Amino acid sequence: MIGEAWTEICDALLAAGITDPAHYAGVVGTPSQKQAWAIVEPLLAELLEADVVLIGAPMYNFSIPAALKAWIDQVTFPRMSLRPKKFVIAGARGGTYAEGTPRAPFDHHERYLRDFVAGHYDVDDVRFVHAELTNALVDPHLAAREGERVASREAALAAI
Ligand SMILES: Cc1cc2nc3c(=O)[nH]c(=O)nc-3n(C[C@H](O)[C@H](O)[C@H](O)COP(=O)(O)O)c2cc1C
Repeated sequence: MIGEAWTEICDALLAAGITDPAHYAGVVGTPSQKQAWAIVEPLLAELLEADVVLIGAPMYNFSIPAALKAWIDQVTFPRMSLRPKKFVIAGARGGTYAEGTPRAPFDHHERYLRDFVAGHYDVDDVRFVHAELTNALVDPHLAAREGERVASREAALAAI
């Protein structure tokens, strides 16, 4: 969870105009900031080290799971640029949000992640691979769509 010390670090980065992650640690001073930084540092190091960032993201309530959002909140700082990294997002959805379907406008999952990666990480090389209609496995109302579930899963596996 984001606490006061994390926001202090972020405010200090903004005030000092620091945008290079290699210099973030320089603004960490108080014991509580050091405690907050101890959580951020390994997560950020893992992210910065990767050439390709693979994120597994099931759709929860038209959006992303709280745990993924908590990670995003920890490792996102002002005016970052993670170019030229690539992002691959492997999604799963109980229903379908494909273009032209009635629920397509409810897709705040891919839409949010695409906007986040572009807007905060300055990365537009992001590929989405979704396995849809996974609820056909458990919901009798979707039993007739089992073929579409299998096709979506196969297409997703082939795309990876
Ligand atoms: C809390 C929760 C909320 C969900 N909300 C949605 C939803 O809004 N739309 C949808 O299509 N599926 C929804 N699902 C179904 C999941 O997207 C689906 O079960 C997916 O296959 C989960 O991925 P996993 O099997 O990798 O955990 C939800 C599942 C959970 C647990």
